[in-house]
Amino acid sequence: MSRTILITGASTGIGAATAIRLAADNDILLHYCRSEQSAQQTAEQVRQRGGRPSLVQADLATEAGCRALAEMVAQQYGKLDVLVNNAGGLVERCPARQIRWDLLEQVFALNTFSAMYLTSLCIPLLEKGEDPSIVNITSIAIRHGAPTATIYGAAKGALDVFTRGLARELAPTIRVNAVAPGVIDTPFHQKYTTPDRLAQFRSQTPLGRLGTAEEIAQAIQFCIENRFLTGETIDLNGGLFMR
Ligand SMILES: NC(=O)c1ccc[n+]([C@@H]2O[C@H](COP(=O)([O-])OP(=O)(O)OC[C@H]3O[C@@H](n4cnc5c(N)ncnc54)[C@H](OP(=O)(O)O)[C@@H]3O)[C@@H](O)[C@H]2O)c1
Repeated sequence: MSRTILITGASTGIGAATAIRLAADNDILLHYCRSEQSAQQTAEQVRQRGGRPSLVQADLATEAGCRALAEMVAQQYGKLDVLVNNAGGLVERCPARQIRWDLLEQVFALNTFSAMYLTSLCIPLLEKGEDPSIVNITSIAIRHGAPTATIYGAAKGALDVFTRGLARELAPTIRVNAVAPGVIDTPFHQKYTTPDRLAQFRSQTPLGRLGTAEEIAQAIQFCIENRFLTGETIDLNGGLFMR
């Protein structure tokens, strides 16, 4: 079955690996914000694996960016089978006593509002899809807290709660799940984590290494393909967090 799949933040890291993994036979809408060249490289790999990539640029931390993306999907495809809300980031590390209002707005706009609003805009398109589903990418930060990333953890926590409410509201038509990655080797950490801190994460992780973007993509594919799964958050972190 050929599917129409929208992946936000698919220029690099987890989004790119997901696009490549899901490529075969599918329309893959690769969203990016600033990394056009990387998005084009991802599109080429999607093509090589038998997918039909389509690139779309938008700043999803804005209402206009979310609207433009949803309108493009509506005009070009008229339906959606899968939405992966993956775009996100820390924005900056900030000690709690230095929290600024503008930083709160930026972090929540990028990690929470974008996924919530884009989801809302895409519901009518998903209702026209085949076994439609949504996968939200949250973080291990929702489980064990993350010093200097408290806003980010809270923003992802809100997305996790949204996942469960939405799963109930949209059942039985649209399934909604989340994947909460641990520390994954992607460009994310070049932006936000020192090499020393990364080495610490590695040594604290029972499996003794960082995760790969492909391992997260595998869990995202499971959420999409398992027809009895909804309202679930899959923790994938090499044992760094255990229930
Ligand atoms: N790596 C980890 O350890 C880890 C752990 C837990 C959760 N996560 C989450 O996993 C997701 C993917 O992260 P990653 O590790 O793959 O990092 P990444 O390679 O830095 O990817 C982040 C993606 O988000 C996009 N993005 C950033 N700002 C945006 C904006 N304003 N509007 C639209 N898109 C924007 C980027 O697009 P451009 O580059 O094109 O601007 C990029 O494609 C994120 O939600 C992140 O919070 C990552």
